Amino acid sequence: MLQAFDIETERRTAQRGLRVQDAHRLVAGLDVRVPVHGGAERPYVNMDNAATTPSLVPVLDCLNRFQRHYSSVHRGTGFKSLLSTHVFEQARRIVAGFVGADAEHHVVVFTRNATQALNKLARRLSLTAGDVVVSTLMEHHSNMLPWRQQPCETVFARVRPQDGSLDEEHLEALLRRHAPRVRVVAVTAASNVTGEIPPIRRLARLAHEAGAWFVLDATQLVAHRRVEMGAPDDPERVDFLAFSGHKMYAPFGGGALVGRREVFCEGPPDETGGGTVHAVTPGEVIWNNLPEKEEAGTPNVNGAVTLARAAQLLQQMGMDEVAAHEREMAAYGLDQFLSIEGLRVFGRRDRRVGVDRNPIFAIEAEGLEHGLLAAALGHEWGIGVRNGCFCAQPYVRQLLGIPTAEMSTIVRRLAAGDHTRVPGLVRISPGLYNTRDEVDYVAEALRAIVTHGPACGYRLHPHHLDYVPEGDQPDFGRFSPL
Ligand SMILES: Cc1ncc(COP(=O)(O)O)c(C=O)c1O
Repeated sequence: MLQAFDIETERRTAQRGLRVQDAHRLVAGLDVRVPVHGGAERPYVNMDNAATTPSLVPVLDCLNRFQRHYSSVHRGTGFKSLLSTHVFEQARRIVAGFVGADAEHHVVVFTRNATQALNKLARRLSLTAGDVVVSTLMEHHSNMLPWRQQPCETVFARVRPQDGSLDEEHLEALLRRHAPRVRVVAVTAASNVTGEIPPIRRLARLAHEAGAWFVLDATQLVAHRRVEMGAPDDPERVDFLAFSGHKMYAPFGGGALVGRREVFCEGPPDETGGGTVHAVTPGEVIWNNLPEKEEAGTPNVNGAVTLARAAQLLQQMGMDEVAAHEREMAAYGLDQFLSIEGLRVFGRRDRRVGVDRNPIFAIEAEGLEHGLLAAALGHEWGIGVRNGCFCAQPYVRQLLGIPTAEMSTIVRRLAAGDHTRVPGLVRISPGLYNTRDEVDYVAEALRAIVTHGPACGYRLHPHHLDYVPEGDQPDFGRFSPL
Protein backbone atom coordinates (compact mmCIF):
# COMPACT_ATOMS: atom_id res chain seq x y z
CA MET A 1 0.00 0.00 0.00
CA LEU A 2 2.60 2.58 1.11
CA GLN A 3 4.63 2.33 -2.07
CA ALA A 4 5.07 5.94 -3.15
CA PHE A 5 8.47 6.40 -1.46
CA ASP A 6 10.59 3.74 0.17
CA ILE A 7 14.16 4.05 1.38
CA GLU A 8 14.81 0.36 0.74
CA THR A 9 13.85 0.79 -2.91
CA GLU A 10 16.16 3.81 -3.06
CA ARG A 11 18.98 1.62 -1.83
CA ARG A 12 18.31 -1.19 -4.28
CA THR A 13 17.88 0.94 -7.37
CA ALA A 14 20.62 3.50 -6.82
CA GLN A 15 24.37 2.99 -6.64
CA ARG A 16 24.68 -0.72 -7.29
CA GLY A 17 28.26 -1.81 -6.74
CA LEU A 18 29.15 1.45 -5.00
CA ARG A 19 32.83 1.64 -4.01
CA VAL A 20 34.81 3.88 -1.68
CA GLN A 21 36.83 4.98 -4.70
CA ASP A 22 33.58 6.48 -6.09
CA ALA A 23 33.06 8.70 -3.05
CA HIS A 24 34.62 11.78 -4.65
CA ARG A 25 32.06 11.53 -7.50
CA LEU A 26 29.17 11.52 -5.04
CA VAL A 27 29.90 14.65 -3.03
CA ALA A 28 27.90 17.80 -3.68
CA GLY A 29 29.84 20.94 -4.59
CA LEU A 30 33.24 19.45 -5.34
CA ASP A 31 33.53 21.60 -8.47
CA VAL A 32 33.07 24.89 -6.60
CA ARG A 33 35.74 27.51 -7.16
CA VAL A 34 36.19 30.22 -4.55
CA PRO A 35 37.74 33.68 -4.62
CA VAL A 36 41.17 33.98 -3.03
CA HIS A 37 43.19 36.99 -2.01
CA GLY A 38 44.40 38.97 -5.02
CA GLY A 39 41.26 38.49 -7.09
CA ALA A 40 41.86 35.00 -8.51
CA GLU A 41 39.69 31.89 -8.01
CA ARG A 42 40.77 28.43 -6.94
CA PRO A 43 38.97 25.11 -6.59
CA TYR A 44 37.82 24.79 -2.98
CA VAL A 45 39.59 22.03 -1.07
CA ASN A 46 37.58 21.09 1.99
CA MET A 47 39.78 19.74 4.76
CA ASP A 48 37.32 20.43 7.57
CA ASN A 49 35.36 17.18 7.54
CA ALA A 50 35.83 16.55 11.25
CA ALA A 51 33.59 19.59 11.75
CA THR A 52 30.97 18.87 9.08
CA THR A 53 31.00 16.72 5.97
CA PRO A 54 29.39 17.85 2.72
CA SER A 55 26.26 16.06 1.47
CA LEU A 56 26.42 12.99 -0.67
CA VAL A 57 24.42 13.55 -3.85
CA PRO A 58 22.35 10.35 -3.40
CA VAL A 59 21.38 11.69 0.05
CA LEU A 60 20.21 14.93 -1.58
CA ASP A 61 18.38 13.01 -4.31
CA CYS A 62 16.63 10.86 -1.72
CA LEU A 63 15.59 13.93 0.24
CA ASN A 64 14.30 15.64 -2.91
CA ARG A 65 12.22 12.62 -3.94
CA PHE A 66 10.83 12.28 -0.44
CA GLN A 67 9.66 15.92 -0.42
CA ARG A 68 6.78 15.08 -2.78
CA HIS A 69 5.33 12.90 -0.03
CA TYR A 70 6.74 14.57 3.09
CA SER A 71 4.10 15.38 5.69
CA SER A 72 3.38 15.30 9.42
CA VAL A 73 4.28 12.09 11.24
CA HIS A 74 2.50 10.00 13.88
CA ARG A 75 -0.76 11.91 14.20
CA GLY A 76 -1.92 12.47 10.62
CA THR A 77 -4.40 10.15 8.92
CA GLY A 78 -3.86 11.16 5.28
CA PHE A 79 -1.81 9.02 2.92
CA LYS A 80 1.18 11.34 3.03
CA SER A 81 1.19 11.35 6.82
CA LEU A 82 0.98 7.58 6.98
CA LEU A 83 3.73 7.28 4.42
CA SER A 84 5.95 9.81 6.21
CA THR A 85 5.47 7.91 9.49
CA HIS A 86 6.35 4.67 7.69
CA VAL A 87 9.52 6.22 6.24
CA PHE A 88 10.49 7.78 9.59
CA GLU A 89 10.24 4.37 11.30
CA GLN A 90 12.07 2.75 8.40
CA ALA A 91 14.88 5.28 8.96
CA ARG A 92 14.98 4.25 12.62
CA ARG A 93 15.38 0.57 11.69
CA ILE A 94 18.15 1.40 9.20
CA VAL A 95 20.04 3.43 11.82
CA ALA A 96 19.60 0.58 14.33
CA GLY A 97 21.01 -1.88 11.77
CA PHE A 98 23.91 0.47 11.01
CA VAL A 99 25.20 0.19 14.60
CA GLY A 100 24.02 -3.36 15.32
CA ALA A 101 21.24 -2.38 17.74
CA ASP A 102 18.42 -4.84 18.33
CA ALA A 103 14.86 -3.69 18.90
CA GLU A 104 14.33 -5.89 21.94
CA HIS A 105 17.15 -4.40 24.00
CA HIS A 106 17.86 -1.05 22.40
CA VAL A 107 15.98 2.05 21.40
CA VAL A 108 16.99 4.54 18.70
CA VAL A 109 16.01 8.08 19.67
CA PHE A 110 16.36 10.70 16.95
CA THR A 111 17.95 13.90 18.24
CA ARG A 112 19.19 17.18 16.80
CA ASN A 113 22.80 16.04 17.03
CA ALA A 114 25.27 14.19 19.25
CA THR A 115 25.32 17.04 21.75
CA GLN A 116 21.59 16.79 22.37
CA ALA A 117 21.87 12.99 22.55
CA LEU A 118 24.57 13.15 25.25
CA ASN A 119 22.74 15.83 27.24
CA LYS A 120 19.57 13.75 27.13
CA LEU A 121 21.42 10.65 28.25
CA ALA A 122 23.21 12.42 31.09
CA ARG A 123 19.85 13.69 32.39
CA ARG A 124 18.04 10.38 31.87
CA LEU A 125 20.52 8.30 33.88
CA SER A 126 19.28 10.07 37.05
CA LEU A 127 22.76 10.43 38.53
CA THR A 128 22.94 11.51 42.15
CA ALA A 129 25.48 13.06 44.51
CA GLY A 130 27.12 9.77 45.46
CA ASP A 131 27.64 8.66 41.84
CA VAL A 132 30.81 8.98 39.81
CA VAL A 133 31.23 9.37 36.06
CA VAL A 134 34.64 8.39 34.71
CA SER A 135 35.57 10.10 31.47
CA THR A 136 38.79 11.23 29.78
CA LEU A 137 40.64 14.47 29.10
CA MET A 138 40.39 13.64 25.40
CA GLU A 139 36.68 14.40 25.18
CA HIS A 140 34.88 16.95 23.08
CA HIS A 141 33.03 19.39 25.38
CA SER A 142 29.79 17.67 24.32
CA ASN A 143 30.86 14.50 26.13
CA MET A 144 32.25 16.39 29.09
CA LEU A 145 29.94 19.23 30.10
CA PRO A 146 26.66 17.24 30.10
CA TRP A 147 28.16 14.94 32.77
CA ARG A 148 29.61 17.82 34.77
CA GLN A 149 26.16 19.43 34.85
CA GLN A 150 24.73 16.47 36.81
CA PRO A 151 24.76 16.35 40.61
CA CYS A 152 27.39 13.57 40.54
CA GLU A 153 31.19 13.70 40.59
CA THR A 154 32.94 13.54 37.19
CA VAL A 155 36.60 12.52 37.00
CA PHE A 156 38.87 12.42 33.96
CA ALA A 157 41.54 9.94 32.95
CA ARG A 158 44.74 11.58 31.79
CA VAL A 159 46.18 11.56 28.29
CA ARG A 160 49.85 11.10 27.47
CA PRO A 161 51.16 14.55 26.54
CA GLN A 162 53.73 13.18 24.09
CA ASP A 163 51.21 11.60 21.68
CA GLY A 164 47.73 12.42 23.04
CA SER A 165 46.83 8.76 23.65
CA LEU A 166 44.71 7.73 26.60
CA ASP A 167 46.50 6.78 29.81
CA GLU A 168 44.60 3.55 30.37
CA GLU A 169 46.38 2.79 33.65
CA HIS A 170 45.11 6.06 35.04
CA LEU A 171 41.58 5.25 33.91
CA GLU A 172 41.83 1.87 35.65
CA ALA A 173 43.18 3.56 38.77
CA LEU A 174 40.18 5.94 38.76
CA LEU A 175 37.81 3.00 38.47
CA ARG A 176 39.47 1.31 41.44
CA ARG A 177 39.60 4.50 43.49
CA HIS A 178 35.91 5.27 43.01
CA ALA A 179 34.53 1.72 43.18
CA PRO A 180 31.70 0.90 43.72
CA ARG A 181 30.30 4.37 43.00
CA VAL A 182 31.13 4.48 39.28
CA ARG A 183 27.83 4.53 37.38
CA VAL A 184 29.10 5.61 33.96
CA VAL A 185 32.24 5.39 31.87
CA ALA A 186 31.87 7.89 29.02
CA VAL A 187 34.56 8.03 26.33
CA THR A 188 35.04 9.21 22.80
CA ALA A 189 35.31 6.60 20.07
CA ALA A 190 37.75 8.83 18.21
CA SER A 191 39.27 12.19 19.04
CA ASN A 192 38.21 15.15 16.93
CA VAL A 193 41.64 16.70 17.54
CA THR A 194 44.24 13.98 16.91
CA GLY A 195 42.14 11.22 15.33
CA GLU A 196 43.23 8.97 18.19
CA ILE A 197 41.03 5.87 18.53
CA PRO A 198 41.09 4.57 22.11
CA PRO A 199 40.83 0.81 22.78
CA ILE A 200 37.03 0.83 22.86
CA ARG A 201 36.36 -2.83 23.57
CA ARG A 202 38.91 -2.95 26.40
CA LEU A 203 37.45 0.18 27.97
CA ALA A 204 33.94 -1.29 27.70
CA ARG A 205 35.11 -4.41 29.54
CA LEU A 206 36.68 -2.30 32.31
CA ALA A 207 33.47 -0.28 32.64
CA HIS A 208 31.34 -3.39 32.96
CA GLU A 209 33.71 -5.02 35.43
CA ALA A 210 33.26 -1.87 37.52
CA GLY A 211 29.47 -2.28 37.26
CA ALA A 212 29.07 0.89 35.17
CA TRP A 213 27.28 1.77 31.94
CA PHE A 214 29.59 2.21 28.97
CA VAL A 215 28.78 5.33 26.92
CA LEU A 216 30.48 5.85 23.57
CA ASP A 217 30.56 9.22 21.82
CA ALA A 218 30.84 7.80 18.30
CA THR A 219 30.48 11.16 16.54
CA GLN A 220 33.93 10.92 14.97
CA LEU A 221 33.84 7.19 14.29
CA VAL A 222 30.56 6.13 12.65
CA ALA A 223 31.60 7.44 9.23
CA HIS A 224 35.07 5.87 9.51
CA ARG A 225 34.76 2.42 11.09
CA ARG A 226 32.12 -0.21 11.73
CA VAL A 227 30.60 0.51 15.16
CA GLU A 228 28.63 -2.24 16.88
CA MET A 229 26.57 -2.06 20.06
CA GLY A 230 27.24 -5.75 20.82
CA ALA A 231 24.96 -8.27 22.51
CA PRO A 232 23.45 -7.13 25.83
CA ASP A 233 25.48 -9.75 27.76
CA ASP A 234 28.76 -9.08 25.93
CA PRO A 235 31.25 -7.65 28.46
CA GLU A 236 32.67 -5.51 25.65
CA ARG A 237 29.29 -4.12 24.57
CA VAL A 238 28.37 -0.47 24.16
CA ASP A 239 25.37 0.52 26.30
CA PHE A 240 24.77 3.97 24.81
CA LEU A 241 25.97 5.49 21.57
CA ALA A 242 25.64 9.05 20.28
CA PHE A 243 26.36 10.51 16.85
CA SER A 244 25.43 13.24 14.35
CA GLY A 245 24.33 13.02 10.72
CA HIS A 246 26.28 16.10 9.67
CA LYS A 247 29.59 14.30 10.22
CA MET A 248 28.53 11.36 8.06
CA TYR A 249 27.57 13.12 4.82
CA ALA A 250 23.98 13.98 5.83
CA PRO A 251 24.08 17.55 7.12
CA PHE A 252 20.37 18.04 7.76
CA GLY A 253 20.25 18.47 11.51
CA GLY A 254 19.72 14.87 12.50
CA GLY A 255 21.47 12.86 15.19
CA ALA A 256 20.85 9.72 17.18
CA LEU A 257 21.06 8.32 20.66
CA VAL A 258 21.04 4.53 20.64
CA GLY A 259 20.78 2.92 24.03
CA ARG A 260 19.51 0.42 26.52
CA ARG A 261 15.74 0.35 26.33
CA GLU A 262 15.19 -0.31 30.04
CA VAL A 263 16.79 3.00 31.04
CA PHE A 264 14.35 5.00 28.93
CA CYS A 265 11.35 2.92 30.02
CA GLU A 266 11.79 4.20 33.56
CA GLY A 267 10.48 7.58 34.70
CA PRO A 268 9.50 10.70 32.78
CA PRO A 269 11.45 11.90 29.72
CA ASP A 270 13.95 14.74 30.14
CA GLU A 271 11.96 16.93 27.77
CA THR A 272 8.18 16.87 27.75
CA GLY A 273 5.47 18.14 25.42
CA GLY A 274 3.70 17.01 22.28
CA GLY A 275 4.21 13.38 21.32
CA THR A 276 5.57 12.29 24.71
CA VAL A 277 2.24 11.31 26.28
CA HIS A 278 -0.62 8.86 25.98
CA ALA A 279 -2.93 10.96 28.11
CA VAL A 280 -2.95 14.22 30.05
CA THR A 281 -5.47 15.42 32.60
CA PRO A 282 -5.07 18.61 34.68
CA GLY A 283 -3.44 16.49 37.38
CA GLU A 284 -2.02 13.41 35.69
CA VAL A 285 0.22 12.31 32.80
CA ILE A 286 0.54 8.89 31.24
CA TRP A 287 3.77 8.74 29.24
CA ASN A 288 3.88 7.39 25.70
CA ASN A 289 5.77 4.26 24.65
CA LEU A 290 9.33 4.36 23.41
CA PRO A 291 10.71 5.95 21.34
CA GLU A 292 7.98 8.63 21.08
CA LYS A 293 8.24 9.35 24.80
CA GLU A 294 11.84 10.53 24.27
CA GLU A 295 11.22 12.62 21.14
CA ALA A 296 9.39 15.67 22.44
CA GLY A 297 7.79 17.86 19.79
CA THR A 298 7.60 17.36 16.04
CA PRO A 299 10.62 15.33 14.97
CA ASN A 300 13.06 16.28 12.20
CA VAL A 301 11.84 13.64 9.75
CA ASN A 302 14.08 14.90 6.93
CA GLY A 303 17.09 14.72 9.25
CA ALA A 304 16.25 11.11 10.11
CA VAL A 305 15.69 10.10 6.48
CA THR A 306 18.97 11.61 5.29
CA LEU A 307 20.86 10.12 8.25
CA ALA A 308 19.49 6.70 7.31
CA ARG A 309 20.28 7.16 3.62
CA ALA A 310 23.88 8.18 4.43
CA ALA A 311 24.21 5.10 6.67
CA GLN A 312 23.02 2.93 3.79
CA LEU A 313 25.55 4.47 1.40
CA LEU A 314 28.42 3.93 3.83
CA GLN A 315 27.31 0.33 4.27
CA GLN A 316 27.08 -0.11 0.52
CA MET A 317 30.67 1.08 0.17
CA GLY A 318 31.52 -1.37 2.94
CA MET A 319 32.72 -0.18 6.33
CA ASP A 320 35.84 -2.39 6.08
CA GLU A 321 36.73 -0.76 2.78
CA VAL A 322 36.00 2.67 4.26
CA ALA A 323 38.31 1.86 7.19
CA ALA A 324 41.09 0.62 4.89
CA HIS A 325 40.86 3.81 2.82
CA GLU A 326 40.95 6.00 5.94
CA ARG A 327 43.97 4.20 7.39
CA GLU A 328 45.75 4.69 4.12
CA MET A 329 44.85 8.38 4.08
CA ALA A 330 46.02 8.78 7.69
CA ALA A 331 49.40 7.26 6.82
CA TYR A 332 49.73 9.30 3.61
CA GLY A 333 48.83 12.57 5.33
CA LEU A 334 51.27 11.86 8.16
CA ASP A 335 54.06 11.23 5.66
CA GLN A 336 53.35 14.48 3.86
CA PHE A 337 52.94 16.74 6.87
CA LEU A 338 55.80 15.26 8.90
CA SER A 339 58.19 16.04 6.07
CA ILE A 340 57.54 19.80 6.33
CA GLU A 341 60.26 21.58 8.23
CA GLY A 342 58.95 23.97 10.87
CA LEU A 343 55.62 22.14 11.16
CA ARG A 344 54.71 20.10 14.22
CA VAL A 345 52.10 17.34 13.97
CA PHE A 346 50.35 16.41 17.22
CA GLY A 347 49.04 12.98 18.18
CA ARG A 348 50.59 9.70 17.16
CA ARG A 349 53.24 10.16 14.57
CA ASP A 350 54.61 6.66 14.12
CA ARG A 351 52.76 5.04 11.24
CA ARG A 352 55.01 1.94 11.26
CA VAL A 353 53.43 0.45 14.37
CA GLY A 354 50.14 0.20 12.47
CA VAL A 355 48.35 2.44 14.94
CA ASP A 356 44.70 2.78 14.03
CA ARG A 357 43.71 6.45 13.85
CA ASN A 358 41.41 8.71 11.88
CA PRO A 359 42.96 10.96 9.25
CA ILE A 360 42.84 14.07 11.41
CA PHE A 361 46.00 16.14 11.67
CA ALA A 362 46.41 18.75 14.39
CA ILE A 363 49.36 20.94 13.47
CA GLU A 364 51.31 23.97 14.60
CA ALA A 365 53.73 26.09 12.57
CA GLU A 366 56.81 27.46 14.26
CA GLY A 367 56.47 31.18 14.93
CA LEU A 368 53.04 31.53 13.30
CA GLU A 369 49.79 31.94 15.19
CA HIS A 370 47.27 29.17 14.44
CA GLY A 371 44.66 31.73 13.37
CA LEU A 372 47.03 33.23 10.83
CA LEU A 373 47.99 29.85 9.40
CA ALA A 374 44.32 28.87 9.00
CA ALA A 375 43.53 32.26 7.44
CA ALA A 376 46.39 32.01 4.95
CA LEU A 377 45.27 28.49 3.92
CA GLY A 378 41.72 29.74 3.38
CA HIS A 379 42.18 33.19 1.91
CA GLU A 380 45.26 32.49 -0.21
CA TRP A 381 44.94 28.81 -1.17
CA GLY A 382 41.19 28.10 -0.99
CA ILE A 383 41.67 25.38 1.62
CA GLY A 384 39.04 24.98 4.35
CA VAL A 385 40.45 24.01 7.76
CA ARG A 386 39.69 24.85 11.36
CA ASN A 387 41.81 26.36 14.10
CA GLY A 388 41.52 26.86 17.83
CA CYS A 389 40.75 24.19 20.41
CA PHE A 390 37.97 22.40 18.50
CA CYS A 391 35.64 22.29 21.56
CA ALA A 392 38.20 20.13 23.33
CA GLN A 393 40.05 22.71 25.39
CA PRO A 394 41.37 20.43 28.14
CA TYR A 395 42.81 18.05 25.53
CA VAL A 396 44.46 20.76 23.42
CA ARG A 397 45.89 22.27 26.58
CA GLN A 398 47.46 18.88 27.43
CA LEU A 399 48.86 18.51 23.93
CA LEU A 400 50.38 21.99 24.05
CA GLY A 401 51.67 21.40 27.58
CA ILE A 402 50.28 24.67 28.94
CA PRO A 403 50.97 24.93 32.69
CA THR A 404 48.03 25.56 35.04
CA ALA A 405 49.18 29.08 36.02
CA GLU A 406 49.47 30.16 32.38
CA MET A 407 46.05 28.67 31.64
CA SER A 408 44.52 30.71 34.47
CA THR A 409 45.99 33.89 32.97
CA ILE A 410 44.58 32.98 29.55
CA VAL A 411 41.13 32.26 31.03
CA ARG A 412 41.17 35.61 32.87
CA ARG A 413 42.15 37.44 29.67
CA LEU A 414 39.36 35.70 27.75
CA ALA A 415 36.82 36.53 30.46
CA ALA A 416 37.89 40.18 30.13
CA GLY A 417 37.16 40.03 26.38
CA ASP A 418 40.76 39.79 25.12
CA HIS A 419 40.70 37.06 22.44
CA THR A 420 44.20 37.60 21.13
CA ARG A 421 47.05 35.16 21.82
CA VAL A 422 44.68 32.29 22.63
CA PRO A 423 46.51 28.97 22.34
CA GLY A 424 45.33 26.55 19.70
CA LEU A 425 46.15 24.41 16.71
CA VAL A 426 45.16 24.05 13.07
CA ARG A 427 43.21 20.93 12.14
CA ILE A 428 43.31 19.27 8.73
CA SER A 429 40.68 16.57 8.38
CA PRO A 430 40.25 14.94 4.97
CA GLY A 431 37.04 13.04 4.30
CA LEU A 432 36.29 9.86 2.43
CA TYR A 433 36.23 11.73 -0.88
CA ASN A 434 39.45 13.74 -0.60
CA THR A 435 42.26 12.61 -2.84
CA ARG A 436 46.01 12.23 -2.41
CA ASP A 437 46.40 15.12 -4.86
CA GLU A 438 44.44 17.34 -2.51
CA VAL A 439 46.62 16.28 0.44
CA ASP A 440 49.67 17.10 -1.70
CA TYR A 441 48.19 20.52 -2.46
CA VAL A 442 47.66 21.19 1.26
CA ALA A 443 51.25 20.12 1.95
CA GLU A 444 52.48 22.47 -0.80
CA ALA A 445 50.48 25.33 0.74
CA LEU A 446 51.78 24.58 4.23
CA ARG A 447 55.35 24.42 3.03
CA ALA A 448 55.00 27.81 1.33
CA ILE A 449 53.33 29.49 4.31
CA VAL A 450 55.74 28.02 6.86
CA THR A 451 58.74 29.07 4.76
CA HIS A 452 57.67 32.53 3.59
CA GLY A 453 54.82 33.50 5.94
CA PRO A 454 51.36 34.64 4.79
CA ALA A 455 51.35 36.43 1.43
CA CYS A 456 49.32 39.39 2.69
CA GLY A 457 48.59 41.28 5.91
CA TYR A 458 45.75 40.14 8.20
CA ARG A 459 43.73 41.78 10.95
CA LEU A 460 41.51 40.27 13.63
CA HIS A 461 37.84 40.62 12.70
CA PRO A 462 36.15 42.52 15.57
CA HIS A 463 33.05 40.28 15.69
CA HIS A 464 33.90 36.73 14.74
CA LEU A 465 37.52 37.06 15.96
CA ASP A 466 39.13 35.30 12.97
CA TYR A 467 41.91 36.77 10.90
CA VAL A 468 40.76 38.38 7.66
CA PRO A 469 42.93 39.97 4.96
CA GLU A 470 43.53 43.66 5.35
CA GLY A 471 41.76 45.50 2.56
CA ASP A 472 39.60 43.32 0.33
CA GLN A 473 36.97 41.10 1.93
CA PRO A 474 35.43 37.99 0.39
CA ASP A 475 32.18 38.77 -1.44
CA PHE A 476 29.60 36.19 -0.37
CA GLY A 477 26.76 37.77 -2.35
CA ARG A 478 26.86 35.58 -5.44
CA PHE A 479 27.31 32.38 -3.37
CA SER A 480 24.37 32.91 -1.03
CA PRO A 481 21.19 30.95 -1.90
CA LEU A 482 19.02 33.53 -0.13
C1 LIG B 1 33.97 13.79 19.26
C2 LIG B 1 32.81 14.70 19.13
N1 LIG B 1 31.77 14.54 19.96
C3 LIG B 1 30.68 15.32 19.91
C4 LIG B 1 30.60 16.34 19.00
C5 LIG B 1 29.38 17.20 18.96
O1 LIG B 1 28.74 17.01 17.75
P1 LIG B 1 27.50 17.94 17.36
O2 LIG B 1 28.02 19.34 17.33
O3 LIG B 1 27.08 17.45 16.03
O4 LIG B 1 26.48 17.74 18.40
C6 LIG B 1 31.67 16.57 18.12
C7 LIG B 1 31.63 17.68 17.16
O5 LIG B 1 32.62 18.14 16.67
C8 LIG B 1 32.79 15.71 18.17
O6 LIG B 1 33.81 15.86 17.34
